[in-house]
Amino acid sequence: MNRAVARVDLDAIRANLAVLRRRAGEADVMAVVKADAYGHGMAEVARTARGEGVTWLGVALPSEACELRRLGDAGRILTWLWTPGDPNVSRCVAEGIDVSVSSPWAVDEITNAARAVGRVARVHVKVDTGLTRNGVLPADLPGLLGRVRDGVDAGLLEVEGIWSHLADGDTPDAASVAHQRARFDEALVVAARHGVEPRLRHLGNSGSVFAHPACRYDLVRAGISLYGLSPSGALGRPADLGLTPAMTVLAGLAHVKHVEVGTAVSYGWRWVAEEATSLGLVPVGYADGVPRAAGAPRVGSPVEVVVAGHRVPIVGTVAMDQFVVDLGDVAAAPGDEVILFGSGAAGEWTADQWADTIGTIGYEIITRIGPRVPREYVGLRTRAEEVGP
Ligand SMILES: Cc1ncc(COP(=O)(O)O)c(C=O)c1O
Repeated sequence: MNRAVARVDLDAIRANLAVLRRRAGEADVMAVVKADAYGHGMAEVARTARGEGVTWLGVALPSEACELRRLGDAGRILTWLWTPGDPNVSRCVAEGIDVSVSSPWAVDEITNAARAVGRVARVHVKVDTGLTRNGVLPADLPGLLGRVRDGVDAGLLEVEGIWSHLADGDTPDAASVAHQRARFDEALVVAARHGVEPRLRHLGNSGSVFAHPACRYDLVRAGISLYGLSPSGALGRPADLGLTPAMTVLAGLAHVKHVEVGTAVSYGWRWVAEEATSLGLVPVGYADGVPRAAGAPRVGSPVEVVVAGHRVPIVGTVAMDQFVVDLGDVAAAPGDEVILFGSGAAGEWTADQWADTIGTIGYEIITRIGPRVPREYVGLRTRAEEVGP
């Protein structure tokens, strides 16, 4: 057993994609692969998604989009978060990557890039319908559309999409969803009035696939459920949605020792043995993405991991490179496999359960697993075996 490994099941990702497509009905499903595919490995996930015929990949950063091209991806990609002067943006235009715009400076930069590289830039106009992050405010939309229209008339821009993002896409019956959908529909009317008729309208993320059918429009941008986690507890556990968590994080036990009652463990002595017990040392820590609070949460019980087939608690403060588990009377030896989280198939917790215990969301648990933890793939196919672009 290596020190640690994140095993990524690409067959689970294929199956999750099939569930999403079934649930999305007429809408196309974009595979969101930003942040190294939520920690699963952008190259392998993108290739898997294309192999399943996915038309659209979504990433936050232009650098991520360029990296996909560098890896040989030739399909449609949308990138949506950038700052003035980002050198990757003109590369995106040159390489046929769609770019989101939501400010006058962005329209100007993309128009200039199109002129410079001699290629029409495809843009998606992002409207702020109520999330209040990026996106043009409805009051400023007519002005922005006028600028976009100028670029279209000059033969430099093409409006591929109009889009927005939900604040509560994962919450059934959220009032904000109806509000945002109404603002989105108004924006589409304003765009049509300006002669801007996008080919794609997209508003929803994973949650809307399960909770808000009216928000699917032409395309849904799915991230978390592609990786098999539930968008929120309110929608149920992954299995309730037909999803399988794709990432399992494993480690090898580094040390086992028997200790007496009263033995204090780790920084701050935040856990003290109430009886004689055996402790196991797991050589992964917060530098690998294991939350520091997992062993000594401010409230409630600690996270549990599986050692030698038994669930045991993390005890004491998680350190940078290691944490301790209370083995009790579990017979374990150095080198035994530790399952931190996974699909639950071997009795281990899911990332969602970790998140609930330490007060965060599953997204944060999986995206934080860092580069010191090598990824290992199940269901990997060669490029020749994949059928996509
Ligand atoms: C703009 C945008 N669209 C779609 C997604 C995917 O969301 P989810 O992972 O909830 O499916 C994200 C992720 O944060 C996002 O920022």
